[in-house]
Amino acid sequence: MPARVNLDGRISCPDQARIPVLDHGFLYGDSIYESFRTYRGGPILFERNFARLRRAAGDVGLALPWTEDALRQEVLRTLDDAANADESLVRIIVTRGVGELAPDPDTCAHPTTVIIVLPLQALPERLYREGVAIVFSELKRDAHIASIKTGNLIHQVLGARQARRAGAVEAIFLTPDGFVSDGTRSNIYFVLDGRVVTPSTDVGIVAGITRSLVMEVAADAGVPIREARFTPDEVRNAAEAFITSTTRGILPVTRIDGSPVGTGTVGPVTFRLMDAFRSAVDTLARTEPKA
Ligand SMILES: Cc1ncc(COP(=O)(O)O)c(C=O)c1O
Repeated sequence: MPARVNLDGRISCPDQARIPVLDHGFLYGDSIYESFRTYRGGPILFERNFARLRRAAGDVGLALPWTEDALRQEVLRTLDDAANADESLVRIIVTRGVGELAPDPDTCAHPTTVIIVLPLQALPERLYREGVAIVFSELKRDAHIASIKTGNLIHQVLGARQARRAGAVEAIFLTPDGFVSDGTRSNIYFVLDGRVVTPSTDVGIVAGITRSLVMEVAADAGVPIREARFTPDEVRNAAEAFITSTTRGILPVTRIDGSPVGTGTVGPVTFRLMDAFRSAVDTLARTEPKA
């Protein structure tokens, strides 16, 4: 049974896991979450996911009922039960819990924790050789709210629809004052005048765990990534672009808003970072303790 749900400690198949309709996570998206994929069957850099979860809990005023170690053990227990032959996608959700029919968190007694383990659906390798299309979204997100990883994801839902309609894999949001932020579920990077740039965290982005690792790997590879604020117009002439997320790693972007990026093929800087990133996660997967 490769798909498993751990609901407050009880592990079952997804269709047996039930959330009460008065849970504010269901009613209002009042929840925080983390997503990551496994490598060699286990998490890597779990402490970074936990730190981001704890930050989100602080930002929304939710008392996180977990220590890092206890939550890691619960994730490992769920992964064990799923016993996936290949890699898994793991989502941890902590909802505000059951309360009154009003968006008032003080009416909720205690949080609900859900850990979902599914088989990882990897993208076709071809897309890593040929690149993908993305679009800029006309949706604007509030910078502060955008940086909190909550279950309130209506912008992501609308952005994903927009991308799908345009035949793209990702939509990139702008801030209300027109700066590039991040995508529905990824961070973005451009190669401009031979240097790699990415929106800085103060623009209002989810600070990706993949982003943090890619920045470290890039610095080690002698290709430091500069954090900056820039508009879509300032990156129209980028030679290369790529996006990152836990499920996709580094995914090259070769078309933006229907126009080719640079030559329209995956460029040398992106390939170099993809190689360095793959070997870094491989080393982490071999060397990080799994318990
Ligand atoms: C809005 C947003 N930006 C960026 C990311 C990338 O984060 P990570 O590298 O931790 O997957 C995500 C991941 O879900 C996201 O939802």
